[in-house]
Amino acid sequence: MIITNVQSLEILDSRGNPTVRTLITLEDNSVHSSSVPSGASTGSHEAVELRDEDNTRYMGKGVLTAVENVNTTIKDAIVGMEADPNTIDSKLLQLDGTENKANLGANAILSVSQAVVRAAAHTENVPLWKFMFEYYFKDQSPNTNHHSPSFPQLLVNIVNGGKHASWNFDIQEFMVVPNIKTPSESVRIAAEIFHSLGKVLKARKLSTLVGDEGGFSPQLNSNEEVLDAIIEAAKNAGYENVKDFRLSLDVASTEFFKDGKYELKKQNKWLSPEELTTYYTNIGQKYNILSFEDAFAEDDWEAWTNFTDMAEKFKFITIGDDLLVTNPERIRRAIDEKAANAVLVKVNQIGTIKETVEAINMAHSAGWKTAISHRSGETEDSFIADLAYACGSEFIKTGSMSRSERLAKYNRLLEIENGL
Ligand code: PGA
Ligand code: ZN
Repeated sequence: MIITNVQSLEILDSRGNPTVRTLITLEDNSVHSSSVPSGASTGSHEAVELRDEDNTRYMGKGVLTAVENVNTTIKDAIVGMEADPNTIDSKLLQLDGTENKANLGANAILSVSQAVVRAAAHTENVPLWKFMFEYYFKDQSPNTNHHSPSFPQLLVNIVNGGKHASWNFDIQEFMVVPNIKTPSESVRIAAEIFHSLGKVLKARKLSTLVGDEGGFSPQLNSNEEVLDAIIEAAKNAGYENVKDFRLSLDVASTEFFKDGKYELKKQNKWLSPEELTTYYTNIGQKYNILSFEDAFAEDDWEAWTNFTDMAEKFKFITIGDDLLVTNPERIRRAIDEKAANAVLVKVNQIGTIKETVEAINMAHSAGWKTAISHRSGETEDSFIADLAYACGSEFIKTGSMSRSERLAKYNRLLEIENGL
């Protein structure tokens, strides 16, 4: 169907900061909306999130320029066009004309890109995941095993540290990963562990307030204490590490990397990449850790390659987030240099769904795993749940079992499980 109107507005994300929402109207007068998330521990190679830098509004974080770009340049170009996602995304890339979307803003571009996919699903009269599977993923090269939609395992971030809590651990995310993929079961297991952890913390008179992604953020003394507390809580809820769930970490180490060394503040130590590798290998074996995300900094390629080599021996998954920024060029380099074996996929790091799909398909074709991910600043938009199911992603990372902007994605998986 033909696009008849495009309207963008400034809304607020889960941290109360401005972000972009765009509504696309089709010729049958149906309206299709999408909203854009925003990171805190962002990688420097991400596409540009355009902020007004006008300190009289929202401490400079307003997005009226990005909104205006949608309401003028983009609207003028795409009204009258067929709502075909790849054609519109190519048009958006051409209109922007920069490598990193600095001209129109990745936030402006993504808001349109996502909304057009929704509009196209409406035109076909199918659920969003079904449209995306058929449009983007059905005709995969024969050497991948992603030929049908499937539910991802949940990476559930139940303890928040680093920049998302800013007062306790160097490691940003401590996650539980239920072994079962069926959403109604995996969501229940994760929620039971989450609530049980709340009880464990309360009994120790520790804080049960939650961080940006809905996980607890207690003042425990070490990474190991956090992992022990999670295992204890899970046991109280009837679940056993490895048998029923696994543990995963997002270290977000770019945040504490300086001059070739990593600062572990809790331990009052500066570690070399080799020493940090030894530390990961030790805790990885002790706790049977499933995956390490951003174990090394965004440009510490050599450390990534050495760690991935080591990790394969211990069957750890090494996930690149700030390293790869959902950018097909950086993923290609990492595949060639064996710098990771999985990619974290964040739609706003690259800015269009077309390029996001390219990143996912490139990773799957290389035998890598993917984790479709939210940002720490989120909205009620659940687009990534449909995307994760459609591409048969191995994982989805969308926060803890609290805060509605996180639950929106889990709840959407539950809808999909129920045929919606
Ligand atoms: P961000 O954090 O959205 O603040 O970048 C999420 C992550 O690092 O995975
Ligand atoms: Zn990360």
